[in-house]
Amino acid sequence: MIRLVDVGKRFAGTGTAALDGVSLEIAAGEVFGVIGQSGAGKSTLIRLINALERPSSGRVEVDGVDVASLSATNLRALRRRIGMIFQNFGLLSSRTAAGNVSFPLELIGMPGEERAAKVAALLARVGLTDHATKYPAQLSGGQKQRVGIARALATDPRILLCDEATSALDPETTRSVLALLRDLNRERGLTIVLITHEMAVVRAICDRVTVLDAGVVVETGTVADVFAGGAHPATRRMLAALAA
Ligand SMILES: Nc1ncnc2c1ncn2[C@@H]1O[C@H](COP(=O)(O)OP(=O)(O)O)[C@@H](O)[C@H]1O
Ligand SMILES: [Mg+2]
Repeated sequence: MIRLVDVGKRFAGTGTAALDGVSLEIAAGEVFGVIGQSGAGKSTLIRLINALERPSSGRVEVDGVDVASLSATNLRALRRRIGMIFQNFGLLSSRTAAGNVSFPLELIGMPGEERAAKVAALLARVGLTDHATKYPAQLSGGQKQRVGIARALATDPRILLCDEATSALDPETTRSVLALLRDLNRERGLTIVLITHEMAVVRAICDRVTVLDAGVVVETGTVADVFAGGAHPATRRMLAALAA
């Protein structure tokens, strides 16, 4: 579903590369984790997948297509197939929960009645039917992220990118949001790429994980293998630092 081939990313005016020689393959239907410390390049990696950034070298493919080669029209189509959720939720404060979920459907010109039904179904799926008319300021962090998830799913994406999506939530809320993501993964065959600095998050939900350290992939494997005692020394050093 997603393939990075020897991807480098260097931002203008910066000395070191944000990403260097990153190669990854993420299968359809997988929950794939990327773990690393702050500044490791995690957000840059996710932004390359939905073509918000372009690689300085190497290639990023989604569904076998080099995203750098897409026309503006095909890029819009790609972005509809890739949902994204964020640490700070990214909701519009002037819109209700329903209004936020409706927004991407308005952008693609879905007719009002069909849109209302879809918004209601999405809010029901994330357990927020009773909160549809509330504004973000009236919702808890967990509820806001559920709105974010419903909005991200509005255009029926095949891929969901999660950038530190539970980092602002308490442990119990984190567990319930991760359980929802896992259920959506199973129900829809949704491919999930989950970026985090928290090992507990990877353990809870991911099938495989890549350990990113200073822009370089240290190791990729099943969660069991990577967290096992036999892991790569650099992985163990980094996991110890993350656990501290
Ligand atoms: N737009 C940008 N311009 C310049 N440097 C950037 C930009 N975005 C990220 N960086 C740099 O790239 C590196 C990786 O950042 P990022 O991908 O945000 O890491 P993470 O998400 O793992 O914390 C950091 O050194 C950061 O300062
Ligand atoms: Mg980040």
